[in-house]
Amino acid sequence: MSGSCKFECVTCTAPVNIAVIKYWGKKDESLILPTNPSLSVTLGQDELRAKTSVAVSESFKEDRIWLNGREESIESPRIQNVLKEIRRRAHKRSADSKGESKLFQHVHIVSENNFPTAAGLASSAAGYACLVYSLAKLFAVQGEISDIARQGSGSACRSIYGGFVKWKMGEREDGTDSYAVQVAPESHWPEMRALILVVSDQKKLVGSTEGMQTSIATSELMKHRINLVPKWTDEIIEAIKQKDFTTFAKITMRESNQLHAVCLDTYPPIMYLNDTSKLIIRLVHCINDILGVEKVAYTFDAGPNACLYLLEEDVPRVLHLVKHFFLPAQSNGQPSFVTGIPVPESEAF
Ligand code: DP6
Repeated sequence: MSGSCKFECVTCTAPVNIAVIKYWGKKDESLILPTNPSLSVTLGQDELRAKTSVAVSESFKEDRIWLNGREESIESPRIQNVLKEIRRRAHKRSADSKGESKLFQHVHIVSENNFPTAAGLASSAAGYACLVYSLAKLFAVQGEISDIARQGSGSACRSIYGGFVKWKMGEREDGTDSYAVQVAPESHWPEMRALILVVSDQKKLVGSTEGMQTSIATSELMKHRINLVPKWTDEIIEAIKQKDFTTFAKITMRESNQLHAVCLDTYPPIMYLNDTSKLIIRLVHCINDILGVEKVAYTFDAGPNACLYLLEEDVPRVLHLVKHFFLPAQSNGQPSFVTGIPVPESEAF
């Protein structure tokens, strides 16, 4: 009815995922189709997460979006791709019921992260997963939605699921076989823990999208990586199934090191790791040497912040050593602070 302010709203949260086999490179920029499969662990819902509210109303004059308190352009091609795909599927579903009025209403989106955006902490992954999940709930879109999240930001498709999640590369040109699958739920390996060492909360100098484009265009090592990564993916899935932490840790660290070697091999080179990141790498290898076996693994995304994977029983001694060697956060951001993040048993959403 005209003049009324009726609206329908859905609010969801989605956690960050941190890859142990990283996505780096696209074969289709617009559909966001990767050049390799990837695998990640979805972190706990109460820690690093995005929270998104989506609303439709007859009174809304246009689609609008606010990110972390600031209005942003809704015209971003990735947001448009997501909105179009959600509306397309919602229309298809309701074709026989003469459509629902809300399908023709404008949408307002409000989203916030509880951690620094664009600092290499997978903010776009949680953000787009949350946006797609919330829109799917609002418009009653059912079935697989990780492929829609993928079209917002590749790594976002993995945050649709909890636990250990693989993003299947897919073979088809239209991307219909490139989506996320859960390899094992959180409950399979409840002792697994992640510690995020925030080395810097500054926005990274080279974003992942641009960085991987330049790597594909210029790095010779990238070709080697594309051939190697599917084998590592299969091996780490087997290690997860067997709960073989040593193999899990070795592959995780080697894969992260290789990604950053590719970044250095990119022209001009991309250096995401800083001196503190390198000290963290040294500390982890010292700990593992002293203990005689891999008890902790590091991995770095497109930024200097470290994610350490380890088992619950090792958290106190590793945390003690990290706190001993690195000061807690200072107001100037130097050097690190540490957050312990359990990977819980709950659903991703
Ligand atoms: C290093 O998913 O942010 O975190 O698809 O261009 O949005 P776009 O890239 P994005 O890249 C993430 C890269 C990574 C590795 C990973 O999470 O797998």
